[in-house]
Amino acid sequence: MEQEQQATSMNNHHFFIVFFPIQGHINPSLQLAKNLVRNGAKVTLCTTNRGLKQIKSLPTLKGLSYASILDGQDNDESHTQKDFLSSMADLRSIGPQNLSNLLQKFLADGEPVTLLVYSVILPWAAGVARDLQVPSAFLFNQCATVLTIYHRFLNSQNGIHGERNSLLSMEVPGLPSFSSSDIPTFLLPDNPFSGFMINMMREHIHVLEEDPRSFVLVNTFDELEQELIKAIANMNVIAVGPLIPSAFCDGSDLTDKSFGGDLFCQSEDYFQWLDLKPNRSVIYVSFGSLAVLNKVQKEEILHALVESGRPFLWVLRSSNSEEEEVHKMMENGLNGDGIIVPWCSQVEVLSHRSIGCFVTHCGWNSTLESMVSGVPIIGCPQFSDQTTNAKMVDEVWGIGVRAKANGESIIERGEFKKCLDIAMGDEGRGKEMRGNAGKWRGLAIEAVKEGGSSYNNLKKLLEITG
Ligand code: UDX
Repeated sequence: MEQEQQATSMNNHHFFIVFFPIQGHINPSLQLAKNLVRNGAKVTLCTTNRGLKQIKSLPTLKGLSYASILDGQDNDESHTQKDFLSSMADLRSIGPQNLSNLLQKFLADGEPVTLLVYSVILPWAAGVARDLQVPSAFLFNQCATVLTIYHRFLNSQNGIHGERNSLLSMEVPGLPSFSSSDIPTFLLPDNPFSGFMINMMREHIHVLEEDPRSFVLVNTFDELEQELIKAIANMNVIAVGPLIPSAFCDGSDLTDKSFGGDLFCQSEDYFQWLDLKPNRSVIYVSFGSLAVLNKVQKEEILHALVESGRPFLWVLRSSNSEEEEVHKMMENGLNGDGIIVPWCSQVEVLSHRSIGCFVTHCGWNSTLESMVSGVPIIGCPQFSDQTTNAKMVDEVWGIGVRAKANGESIIERGEFKKCLDIAMGDEGRGKEMRGNAGKWRGLAIEAVKEGGSSYNNLKKLLEITG
């Protein structure tokens, strides 16, 4: 009854969430939408036309609908994949008008959008909202620490800068120093995407600082990054995370067990395999949806896993024949007790009792999912915010160990084995990491439960946009 009243009193909310169709952005956008719908709001989720077609399936929920915009390549018959930067330029030239048309149509149909939420790759969406006088919010799918680093970099505070204004190190009050191997890689000299990424973050931060009505929703929780959130309070930070399916988070909807918007096809048989394994015995390995490991790195990982003598579940996306190469190595005698899958339901795997540790690239979603499952991490960052996340995991939150790469950026088998022994160990640092993981898991769950910080922040968001 109470829920019905709440839903009725809030049914004038219409959130429009527009995101770029990569897995790390799809998942938190979908979860935010589900959480809002559960609170009685109407939500329209929007991505590019092509992106919407690539997503294998999408959740059907009362109050949730989908829309799409063109990305400038819909009529491209050449079928050649454009590089990232030219795709972004195409999207920027055609996306704003498309988005504007959609918002105006909702207004004409009597369903005006009350808040436009846009994700990180789409800073131009703020301009569309401003022109139509629709309130807007930026959804940052990384942690508040990373937002703080970009903010300080753009304000040139305390950073040591190198050539072409790239960052070499940074001090953030209350945290250990960030060296060049810890800061987001897009701030480093010679990163091919640095110009694009820095300009994009400049655009976001400019809107947040100049428009007092704008705010940023961050996929974190107050208890995890309290001081950082305070440090950037001038940008109206609202922590609404962890954005994780509620069956694993607050338990409010036990049927909500996956994000529901996979870009890749899952295999089916791995849960039977996991069910047969003892508690905390399996090493789970995944590098997210974008990173591609070279052959040498895969060989080093496979050697370490097999030589550790422990069972392992390794996600290798089959799209780039990664899986085949590793299968060949396994057929040639490197087999051990492991299985390789092209994709899995990661949140479910991490919460399975058999998982002992997570070898991960430290994408922000993966990091939060591991935290919420209380599983220690072996951090092997590849690019972007992953380096910063790995540092925080190791040195600040104490839930993992960062594996060290050699001069050729390869993490060798010996280093992996050392980290595996630490993370899977019953005593010492491994025990400590599990204790910390358990503590953060408890705090994360408290944050999203009724009365918790993120729960209250979501209510606040509904109030200020109502
Ligand atoms: C990207 C960036 O790389 C990352 O640094 C940034 O923080 C977010 O965007 P990605 O590399 O894909 O994302 O990593 P991550 O953020 O961890 O997101 C991957 C998502 O895919 C996770 O939610 C994970 O649960 C899901 N996943 C991964 C699966 O569902 N199944 C799998 O087999 C592997």
